[in-house]
Amino acid sequence: MGWLNRLLTGRYRHRQFSHAEGRVLDVACGAGTNFQYLPERTEIVGIDISDPLVERAQSELDRLNRDGTVERMDAQDLNFADNSFDTVISSFSTCTFPDPVAALEEMARVCRPNGRILLLEHGRSDNSFLARYQEWRAEAHYERSGCRLTQNPLAVVRQAGLSVDEAESAQLGRITWIVCERPDPSHLTTA
Ligand SMILES: C[S@@+](CC[C@H](N)C(=O)[O-])C[C@H]1O[C@@H](n2cnc3c(N)ncnc32)[C@H](O)[C@@H]1O
Repeated sequence: MGWLNRLLTGRYRHRQFSHAEGRVLDVACGAGTNFQYLPERTEIVGIDISDPLVERAQSELDRLNRDGTVERMDAQDLNFADNSFDTVISSFSTCTFPDPVAALEEMARVCRPNGRILLLEHGRSDNSFLARYQEWRAEAHYERSGCRLTQNPLAVVRQAGLSVDEAESAQLGRITWIVCERPDPSHLTTA
């Protein structure tokens, strides 16, 4: 289904991730669909909770002949030191984490000061007709796939205390791009 994924979401992934820089962490990378949209000069580190998907993401790195590693890891408890990445990316993921706020706090922790956290998420539409359909489907969808169809990604990001630089949506508000910059603590003044 890789081709279908690329067809439906490729242009959004390209738009959001093609400006990533330096050492890049892809949180909940799945089969590594985002890797092809990351600039050649970046070093890729992917993590996912699923062993079969970690294997597929590693094969995708090999296919693309890119530098990087993929590991099994829980997004809510990242096994990386503070400030280890220049860019942290994640797509269509916070809706599946049991504790999305904890996962976003972890993304902020491992991102260096002035680094960027680039998110591509889906959620509740701002079209009332479509939103009603999503509400109607939400429970069955969650039972089938563990994904919260009507989550408001921007609200979750703000709840995690991330500072949102840009946010834009498409497909009647169903898809949202969010760019956060990790503040530089040395620039914070104390009273
Ligand atoms: C809808 S898929 C998105 C995959 C990929 N980011 C993409 O855009 O194609 C959600 C992913 O989150 C992963 N996931 C769910 N809970 C996780 C957790 N606690 N830690 C890490 N990955 C997790 C799943 O294994 C799955 O690969």
